[in-house]
Amino acid sequence: MNQKICVITGATDGVGLETARTLGKDGWTLALVARNAQKGERIATELRAECGNEDITFKQADLSLQKDVRRVAGELADSYPRIDVLINNAGAIFWKRKQTAEGFEATLALNHLNYFLLTNLLLDRLKAAPSARIVNVASRAHVGASVDFDDMDGTAVYKRCMGGWIAYQRSKLQNIMFTYALARRLEGTNVTANALHPGFVKTRFGKDNGGAFAVILNIGMRVSAISVQKGAETQTYLARSPEVEGVSGKYFSECRAVTSTKQSMDEAAQERLWAMSEDMTRGSQ
Ligand SMILES: NC(=O)c1ccc[n+]([C@@H]2O[C@H](COP(=O)([O-])OP(=O)(O)OC[C@H]3O[C@@H](n4cnc5c(N)ncnc54)[C@H](OP(=O)(O)O)[C@@H]3O)[C@@H](O)[C@H]2O)c1
Repeated sequence: MNQKICVITGATDGVGLETARTLGKDGWTLALVARNAQKGERIATELRAECGNEDITFKQADLSLQKDVRRVAGELADSYPRIDVLINNAGAIFWKRKQTAEGFEATLALNHLNYFLLTNLLLDRLKAAPSARIVNVASRAHVGASVDFDDMDGTAVYKRCMGGWIAYQRSKLQNIMFTYALARRLEGTNVTANALHPGFVKTRFGKDNGGAFAVILNIGMRVSAISVQKGAETQTYLARSPEVEGVSGKYFSECRAVTSTKQSMDEAAQERLWAMSEDMTRGSQ
């Protein structure tokens, strides 16, 4: 296997799928991870034909469940001797508070703990690559957010007006804080870690919630969202561009490093989040 090996989560729709399409056409070996087996197998079959690339496989996992994250990480480690690029992209907004079968609030579980656990479980494989990249899809939605360490289960936030949106904002802030803390830990290694905002992109994002929120989002997307091709540009850039070789611990938008919020840069808060994330993922076997 001489071509790059890339794991992309949430690669069956939206910006993840578009990123897979571009990297697949480049001849990369791809593992597409998402929750719906039937849809995932169909997408992988379609991409293999469209890209003329047989090295595209689907791995099923509900990434809001740590038992699934652990299982799929094991399958990925068994399949690939090294991983060159990990793109943590799967994410969602939950308009009403939802708890996973493992007892975690769903936004935290899928949008943050999944990134944290999958990355840490695959670090050995990333370190086995000559030069590896971790790409964390965050969002400009982190602007205005702060992490409430006393409300990690979202009980209080979901009592607030637009609580689902605030929980989502927090999770995207956590993506950036995690990236900065991770990049510090990876200094001096062959692995880089960066976060990004893809733009406001016309995708299926948020549609599962139904109701007024989905209608408003739909209208907003029709009026002002960018295409999925444009939306996938920054993560594709971070995955393959030679311009960002060795660049780590940055937040990108429109393929440029930009400044994230003051809250995201608080190192003490990043370390507190890291320690809490370790605690919240330690028990899951
Ligand atoms: N769209 C935007 O405007 C926007 C803006 C800023 C940031 N983002 C971020 O971009 C990323 C991708 O969003 P998108 O707009 O492309 O969303 P999308 O069209 O809804 O696609 C989400 C992908 O994640 C998968 N997924 C959802 N829940 C999952 C779970 N529990 N386990 C495994 N996979 C799961 C979905 O699988 P299914 O095919 O089964 O649904 C799908 O492949 C997210 O992290 C989001 O926060 C999006």
